[in-house]
Amino acid sequence: MKYRKFSDLNWKVSEVGLGCWQIGWCWGDVTDLTAKDLLKKALDLGINFFDTSDTYGDGRSERFLKEILRSSSEKIFVSTKLGRRIRGTNYPKGYKQDPMEEFIDRSLINLGVEQIDLVQLHCPPVEICSKKETFEMMDEFVKKGKIANYGVSVYNLSEAIESIKFPNVKSIQLVFNIFRQRPAEFFLKEARKKNIAIIARGPLASGLLGGEMTKDTQFAENDHRNYNIIGEAFDVGDTFSGVNYEKGLIAAEELKKILPKNYSLSGLALKWILMHDDVTVVIPGAINANQVQNNASVSEQEDISELLPKIKSIYEQFIKTDVHNRWL
Ligand SMILES: NC(=O)c1ccc[n+]([C@@H]2O[C@H](COP(=O)([O-])OP(=O)(O)OC[C@H]3O[C@@H](n4cnc5c(N)ncnc54)[C@H](OP(=O)(O)O)[C@@H]3O)[C@@H](O)[C@H]2O)c1
Repeated sequence: MKYRKFSDLNWKVSEVGLGCWQIGWCWGDVTDLTAKDLLKKALDLGINFFDTSDTYGDGRSERFLKEILRSSSEKIFVSTKLGRRIRGTNYPKGYKQDPMEEFIDRSLINLGVEQIDLVQLHCPPVEICSKKETFEMMDEFVKKGKIANYGVSVYNLSEAIESIKFPNVKSIQLVFNIFRQRPAEFFLKEARKKNIAIIARGPLASGLLGGEMTKDTQFAENDHRNYNIIGEAFDVGDTFSGVNYEKGLIAAEELKKILPKNYSLSGLALKWILMHDDVTVVIPGAINANQVQNNASVSEQEDISELLPKIKSIYEQFIKTDVHNRWL
């Protein structure tokens, strides 16, 4: 496993981390046993960066991480995302002082720590990202010692652009993958100039870039790939990256035709992200230890520079028109 520097902090994080939404909810039934098993595998493979949220299974995902934080002798970095516990259209109230402090206190307990390494504001609206009061509030939590650092997870690039105007924002998390290439045009470079860590989420487009799906694939009732196809529950950009399923399958088949020897489609998808030096850590989610193993192994695979133009042209041919000018 290779490691990368995270912002201006003295952190070396594994370039492949682990997304822990899957061990909370929304991805069918991932049992406690499976969750613990895949986390153990992640640690064994040198993964030391874990992304979670207090909303993932109402704290279930965080509580699994408490166990590994206790068991690991190595430093591991856990980042939780907070702000979205208030349901419905009132959710922006969650980014204010009192509720946020309540969320932090709850996550401190869930994670079993005295200080959270990195709290990411969980997809706040752009008005919250552009307000100095938001970040003054976060500075206060740092001063109190409850959190060590903070960043912002975003749906849209405008939210990221506003957030990085504030000097103590250490990271931005966004959807970045072969099917969502827009951040590479401009934003990643801007973030690099300010030494902001980039956490690339949805790297497999919810599994569309995993290479195993077909038009007949069925998803469980409690899997968002069944119930959020047009954004009924949350931003559609986090279900198949907002890409039309059938078009995504066609593009995935085109990508399979150019796979180098020893590469799977999921490997290609993760390596494509890691080929961007401005990315700090990619956080594929996994529903079993085998997927964790496959995903972690990509760190050591050979580079794919010569394929970048072909990947770009597949994106341009099949995907770009639908996604490039959304999530701005
Ligand atoms: N708003 C936010 O801030 C936000 C939103 C979304 C996600 N996230 C974070 O980002 C993380 C990852 O993104 P994501 O959850 O959207 O999903 P993703 O990483 O794009 O896709 C994960 C899914 O792909 C499949 N998969 C994983 N490894 C595979 C492999 N090697 N081969 C084939 N299939 C594989 C698995 O599903 P199947 O096997 O069932 O197909 C897995 O659940 C989340 O865990 C979460 O931490 C944050």
